[in-house]
This record gives sequence, structure tokens and C-alpha cells, in this order.
Amino acid sequence: MSALANEYKAINLSQGFPNFEVSEELVSLMNHYMKKGMNQYAPMQGIISLRERIAEKVQDLYGAVYNPETEINITSGGTQAIYTAITAMIREGDEVVIFEPAYDCYAPAIQLAGGIPVYIQLTAPDYSIDWTKVKKLITQKTKMIIINTPHNPAGTIMTAADMKELEKITSNSEITIISDEVYEHILFDGLRHESVMRYPKLAERSFVVFSFGKTYHTTGWKMGYCLAPENLMTEFRRVHQFVVFSSTTFAQYALADFMKNKNYLELPAFYQEKRDYFLKLISGSKFKFIPSKGSYFQSLDYSDITKEKDFDFAVRLTKENGIASVPVSAFYNKKNDYKMLRFCFAKTNETLEQAAEKLCSIKADKTIGKITTI
Ligand SMILES: Cc1ncc(COP(=O)(O)O)c(C=O)c1O
Repeated sequence: MSALANEYKAINLSQGFPNFEVSEELVSLMNHYMKKGMNQYAPMQGIISLRERIAEKVQDLYGAVYNPETEINITSGGTQAIYTAITAMIREGDEVVIFEPAYDCYAPAIQLAGGIPVYIQLTAPDYSIDWTKVKKLITQKTKMIIINTPHNPAGTIMTAADMKELEKITSNSEITIISDEVYEHILFDGLRHESVMRYPKLAERSFVVFSFGKTYHTTGWKMGYCLAPENLMTEFRRVHQFVVFSSTTFAQYALADFMKNKNYLELPAFYQEKRDYFLKLISGSKFKFIPSKGSYFQSLDYSDITKEKDFDFAVRLTKENGIASVPVSAFYNKKNDYKMLRFCFAKTNETLEQAAEKLCSIKADKTIGKITTI
């Protein structure tokens, strides 16, 4: 959709990346460490000062204790951490439960490792998890469950009750968990991020994945990290060593310095303003929505506008109305069409205003609301 947006010069709310400036301080730090000569391979696990900052952060935020030496690894983005954890744990015929709609890197990594994705479909508008259904799909072959909270593309979050259910389902099993928490700081209305790290019984079987790209508006730097108990991290590192070996050195030094002032704590308020502004701007449109609870995505229901398939409508909006989104069916294996489009509101106010103007100008098709008689 980004390519189509570029071709048609449409406002691009499709791909998930911010279009505002990165902190000048962080850019200067990157520059500083590059000039200072931090340009050769970093240690495979990542530099220790950055791992220490991360250990302090998760203890502060989630009360979780991780050993920076043996239980934290710097990665080249969240995607690499997810790929590495899957490759480390999954073998031919292993089943991995994933919830759809799902971020698109899970299933291919499972299949590349010879595993079988077992899809649990969450349905619009609330995308809640039916744990009875999950229980039924767990077999002797289930080796892993992948969760994602706050959720891309749904904008939902997992609750404490969800985490308790996950705890029940996985207890007395050898199932490992990947908890994709790249949007850990983007939650709204005072909601609390339910990290698996708050739940010791879940943490002991989890790879927890994060992305500096999401937190510091630097998706193009591809920097992230993974936390896991030592037995799992040992397996993770066996793969990490031969996937990338190590991640950009000067970026690690810069991030270690930058994290000291805990600037990530400003993120919920920053994005709350964006979400609220975007929703206010489109309140006069024909789209329906449940306000996003987390992540920088908002799904909009267009069933009052047209009966077109979401893919067709997204293409039409890009070409004819100059506004690009992602059809939510793209996040489903079976391409379920709930007449939903995903919009990224990590954009400047100016971009959001231009986008909203276009969204508000979209009229319903003539066929909508009419009863067809034969
Ligand atoms: C749910 C989710 N997980 C992981 C990632 C990947 O993060 P990174 O860009 O650090 O690889 C993304 C990026 O869009 C995401 O939305």
C-alpha cells in the first residue's frame, strides 16, 4: 500500500511508521558515537551498558528481574528477535498458536522452521480472545503461543484476565511464549500494559520482544531487544549468532545514554494526544470505530459506506481519494473481510488534518442502506 500511496501521491497512513522528527539529542548521540569510532562489531549479546539499562527499565516498570549478562540480548529490530526465537524453538511438525489478525512476520518464520501455524481468528469489532477455543486447539504438538499486546492491527490490549487464562493454559506444559510487546508504551486512557513479565509463571516460559524503533520514532534504525530466562536465552543466542551476530554498535551506545533519562515515560501522553486528535477530526465521517486502546493504529469500519471488499476499497481510497490504509484482511491467513481498514496515526498533526479531510469527504455508495428486491 505504501508503494501505491507513493505512485498516487496519496497521504500514507498505511505503513506503521512515524513521520515526525527523531529527538535531536538521540541523533547527536548517534553521531557522537559514530565519530568516536564505535563502528566495529559489538559483542554478540549487545553492549553491556545497554543491557543494564534495559534490566533497570523492566524492573522499574514491571517488577521483573533479568540478568543483563545471560537473559537480555540486543537485536536488529523486533522482527529479528521474533524470527530468532521461533527458529531456536520450532522444529518440523511443531504447532504454534497465533492469533489473527496478526503482524505478518509470525507465520512465515514458523513455516520456514518447518512448524505449523495454528490460527485463532479474532473478530471485529472487539477482537477479544475466546480462551475456550484456544484450549481446544492445544495438542501434544503445540510448542509455542505468540501473543501481541498492544495489538497491531487491532489496537486492542490483553487484560489481566487474559494473562491469567494464558497462565492456566500453559501451566504443566512445555509450551513457550513469544510476547510481542513492541508497543509497550503506547496505551491510552490510563490503561496498564500487561507485560508477561508481570506474571512470573508466564515470564519463565517467554521470549519478550521489544523495538527501539517504536519507542523512539526510529523504525528505520532496526534496533530492538529480547528478554528471556537463561535456558531460553541460551537457545536464542545459538541462532542469533548466525543470523546477524550483532547489531549496530554506535546505535547501542547512543541508546544506552538516551535511555538514562527514562524519556519513554512520555510516550503514552504523546500518543494519546495523537489518537484523540485523529478521532476528533474524523468524528464527522461515515466511518465507525471503537477507539484504539493501544498501538499507533486505528481500525475504521466502513460498512456504512460501501459493500466493496476491504482490499478493493483500500485501493480505491488510495487511487481516487488520495488516502492510503491497509485492509485488515491482509492480516488474516484466510483474508477474512470485516469491512475494516487500518490507519496509522503516528503522524504530524498537519498530516492527520489532511487525512481527516479526505476521510470526511467520502460519501456512502448509492446501494448502501437500500433493500434490493428481485
Ligand atoms: C506487532 C509488531 N511486532 C513487531 C514489529 C517489528 O518491529 P521492528 O521494526 O523493530 O522489527 C512490528 C512493526 O511494525 C509490529 O507492528
